[in-house]
Amino acid sequence: PEVKEFLKELPKCEHHLHLEGTLEPDLLFPLAKRNNVALPQGFPQTVEELNEKYKQFDDLQDFLNFYYMGCQVLINECDFYELAWQYFLKVHKQGLKHAELFFDPQSHTERGISVDTVYNGFAKACSKAESELGISSKLIMCILRDCPLQKCQDLVEKEAAHLIKEGKVHGLGLDSAEKPFPPTLFTNIYASAKKLNPELRLTAHAGEEGDHTYVKNSIDFLKVERIDHGVNSVQSDDLLRELSANKTMLTVCPLSNIKLQVFQDLKELPLLKLLEFGVPFSLNSDDPAYFGGYILENYYAVHETFGFDYKIWGDIVINTIKGSWCDENRKTELI
Ligand code: HPA
Ligand code: ZN
Repeated sequence: PEVKEFLKELPKCEHHLHLEGTLEPDLLFPLAKRNNVALPQGFPQTVEELNEKYKQFDDLQDFLNFYYMGCQVLINECDFYELAWQYFLKVHKQGLKHAELFFDPQSHTERGISVDTVYNGFAKACSKAESELGISSKLIMCILRDCPLQKCQDLVEKEAAHLIKEGKVHGLGLDSAEKPFPPTLFTNIYASAKKLNPELRLTAHAGEEGDHTYVKNSIDFLKVERIDHGVNSVQSDDLLRELSANKTMLTVCPLSNIKLQVFQDLKELPLLKLLEFGVPFSLNSDDPAYFGGYILENYYAVHETFGFDYKIWGDIVINTIKGSWCDENRKTELI
């Protein structure tokens, strides 16, 4: 109980959270109804049935199939706003102070929804979270790596170019099915995004189901300064030394890794090896509505498994703050 209070009070930041992954079944069904969206054949009919499905996924793709079906109920700006606002209310109670939030425009533009509808809804929730809850946030737009390359390029260079140029999206990320879509495919798109706005921050999912070369190539070709997941980095000591030397942060997602069967047991999560090599990492919830826990439940799960002392928790949280993409004044406030 005392340690739970301690974990709750820590000034936590989240770096790996997909806003579409916060769609709880108890919001999904009402939105489907409100927007007259017919869910696909065979989709669970009730909150209970859907929660039953979410108990276990076979792998990343099995989860993604449900994630993209869920996205279909999001239509209007107010839907995106409501989704993000519900997230902020939940994590506010868990002691979250700063959030860097992924969103996937292509899961909506494919259905005829404009990038601005999506962005405006999310951005409104972010402003309100800052003024009413004291949570700072940044939006990171992700490319779906399993979409045709030309569409990915159009997203960056056309549909969302204004958001990048004006600094409305703070970072660019890369997500969805990893293994058949190595990072090198996206080298030119990352370069042209950075050209649109040299201040754009860059990250990519890598080393979740792909091996350590996905991590190394994301750094070398995409020029990312952070890696999402990155747990397979531990396959290469050379890579770990490089991550440590350059202070490249891994945004680790413990409960996600269990639900998607990246690991069978949290004990296999390579946090001790990362600590040993001095590789900075943060702990994150990824898609909390699907994976059974928000940021604090991820902290709890790690504590139950590893039993870190106060000193190690302090170091983890300080590294997390330092690795955040907020300005230096905000970092000082948080520490
Ligand atoms: N990995 C890849 N793509 C995703 C994820 C993830 O964990 N969550 C949402 N899209
Ligand atoms: Zn993710």
